[in-house]
Amino acid sequence: MAASEKPLIRIVNDDGIVTLTIDRPEKRNAMNPAMHYQMHKALSDLRFDPACRVLVITGVDESFCAGQDLKEYFYDLDERKATVERDRVRAASNEWRNHILRLFPAPTIAAINGWCFGGGFSIVCSCDIAIAADEATFGLSEINFRGIPGGMVTKNLTETLRPREGLFYALTGKSFSGKRAAEIGLITYSVPKARLMDEVYEIARLLREKDAIALRETKETFKTSMRMDYEEAYSYATAKANETHLFQGRTGMHEGIGAFMEGKFKPGLEHVKE
Ligand code: ACO
Repeated sequence: MAASEKPLIRIVNDDGIVTLTIDRPEKRNAMNPAMHYQMHKALSDLRFDPACRVLVITGVDESFCAGQDLKEYFYDLDERKATVERDRVRAASNEWRNHILRLFPAPTIAAINGWCFGGGFSIVCSCDIAIAADEATFGLSEINFRGIPGGMVTKNLTETLRPREGLFYALTGKSFSGKRAAEIGLITYSVPKARLMDEVYEIARLLREKDAIALRETKETFKTSMRMDYEEAYSYATAKANETHLFQGRTGMHEGIGAFMEGKFKPGLEHVKE
């Protein structure tokens, strides 16, 4: 990042729980090219950082993310016919949300605190868990400016929503609340805004207690199985279970199932003690 470039994201690591806050309130946290490059760099680093046990993504002030910056991401790049620059920005924009974040090794939580439009949906859908304020406002606004949900937004919608709701909101451009987002399965659940971050960190602390290797293998298996048939999914999950034990060494079996056999804990009801 150039010394003069203003940071558009903030990162805080609190004992393994990393909070990445989108920090461009004057533009409602819309994603401009500089933000895409900063996000790409930050997540590429965090992805290989063992000190990142859980990742929380949220937005500063009243906005989670107002989608792509309509001026800097679309209008300016298109008007200037800056092909190479446009390709570079689009690649960064797509990679950080739909590859690096979607397959991030640690569990990820989107904390949707306010406005969330268009490309902001890709952040929500790529996170493993999404918790919103009841009062947050979501919208597929593209149709309102004669566009379509581009990039991977339509793909995100088809994987997350039923066609009835996905098409309804994509075609009408009507906005909806965090409560409604929970009803249609776009997010995991919603809570009153005053409680949002307490709730998010409660879940983050729960995840931090779990085995990091088992978490990673669980989400990889889940996300990849979605696109497989039964035979492929069975083989893949079997190989992943073996890989989990291989990566854990003997501790996984001894401290997990072994502890249960010794009567030390009830895994149906509680987490294995260290
Ligand atoms: N791109 C560029 N600038 C934006 C964006 C955006 N997506 N969203 C907000 N801004 C800017 C506004 O232009 C304004 O800038 P200015 O102060 O320099 O004039 C500033 O942020 C504040 O915006 P307001 O509209 O004044 O804020 P308000 O709180 O009244 O409304 C809202 C917020 C509803 C988010 C509104 O700004 C809006 O509709 N933004 C566009 C949302 C959108 O359609 N996003 C694109 C989705 S499509 C995609 O991502 C592919």
